[in-house]
Amino acid sequence: MSSQAGQDALFLRACRREPVERTPVWIMRQAGRYLPEYRAIRERHDFLKCCRTPELAAEITLQPVARLGVDAAILFSDILVPLPGMGVHVEFNPAPQLAHPVRCAADVASLRVPDARETTPYVLDAVRLIRSQLGGRVPLIGFAGAPFTMATYLVEGGGSKSFAAVKGLLFGDSRTAHRLLGICAETVASYLSEQVKAGAQAAMLFDTWAGLLGPDDVRTFALPYAQRVFAAVREASEGIGAHVPLIYYAGDSAGWIEACTEIGADVVGIDWRMSLDAARARVGTAVALQGNLDPTILLGSRALIQQRARGVLRAALGESGGEGGAAPGPTGAATGHIFNLGHGILPQTPPDHARLLVDTVRQYTETPS
Ligand code: CP3
Repeated sequence: MSSQAGQDALFLRACRREPVERTPVWIMRQAGRYLPEYRAIRERHDFLKCCRTPELAAEITLQPVARLGVDAAILFSDILVPLPGMGVHVEFNPAPQLAHPVRCAADVASLRVPDARETTPYVLDAVRLIRSQLGGRVPLIGFAGAPFTMATYLVEGGGSKSFAAVKGLLFGDSRTAHRLLGICAETVASYLSEQVKAGAQAAMLFDTWAGLLGPDDVRTFALPYAQRVFAAVREASEGIGAHVPLIYYAGDSAGWIEACTEIGADVVGIDWRMSLDAARARVGTAVALQGNLDPTILLGSRALIQQRARGVLRAALGESGGEGGAAPGPTGAATGHIFNLGHGILPQTPPDHARLLVDTVRQYTETPS
């Protein structure tokens, strides 16, 4: 049965905390600007055209699979791709910019909850095409922005230093904020569920900006909405007889990491600001952990990359030395660990450093047979 064939893939087994023969590895933002083959495509096509053309999205998704030998592919798209369907125009230069940010109750009232099949059919076509082009080599991760992070972009209209607009809405007009978050949750629930129905084998929410919030506020404005999305995606996944792992990544979550176990995620992604052994002590053993090498380590020497990668692997095993003081030699594979960076790979990264990282994880965790 080809639809079942991928279920025992290394990456999916690690997400389910099953035994693995080595630690799987992929890299957040692995398809993108640090790759010359991506830049070559971008010279001919603008970013949104790449997202909206299934053949281009599929080609870009597969680029890092071929070059790096990662254990999972992630759909090439962006967390803001659903915005036009909600009635919001967005441009990428390359950072996202909204001409008309959502700032008040009337703005929120004008938003639509789109049907993903009508407004983003090209994403679902891309998922189907990628699955067929992957031919079972590695699983495909579908993704979306978590409701809070999506709302942050909608309100700020782009990046920000103080995030005063979105935090001003949360604390100045929390009724409107909750209405907006509800709309984002419904939008993302449909969008990510449709990706799963189209063939995505894991589903990830990026909550890049959740770390703006303290422990009480994250439980009010971010986590309940991510939980709503996961419940819907879980239902969609069970509806097609699959068990699709749900991955929650939040930036800067060290202040409330244990709360991430309450939202129905199978895997919790963490950034580099805390070590994996400290994170494990706080989240317990019910979830897998994904992470967490500082992406800027890939701008350092080859020796540093190997040393720090081993530090992360040892911390995943619960051994001290997670800060880089790791001894040389094989580590073996920790249960319930997926190696990744602690945030997206930077455009300045030499591609052969990314390849070295993948090879290092492989080499140091492989159990000799
Ligand atoms: O991981 C992958 O390889 C899949 C592709 C992917 C993109 N964006 C492509 C992209 C993914 C998973 C994202 C997620 C995303 N987008 C996040 C969450 C993850 C994170 O890094 O925190 C966020 C916050 C965004 C919003 C966004 N989109 C920003 C801030 C930018 C500009 C700067 C940047 O980080 O690249 C984008 C544009 C974007 N999204 C590009 C790519 C390859 C660059 C566009 C270009 O080619 O010029």
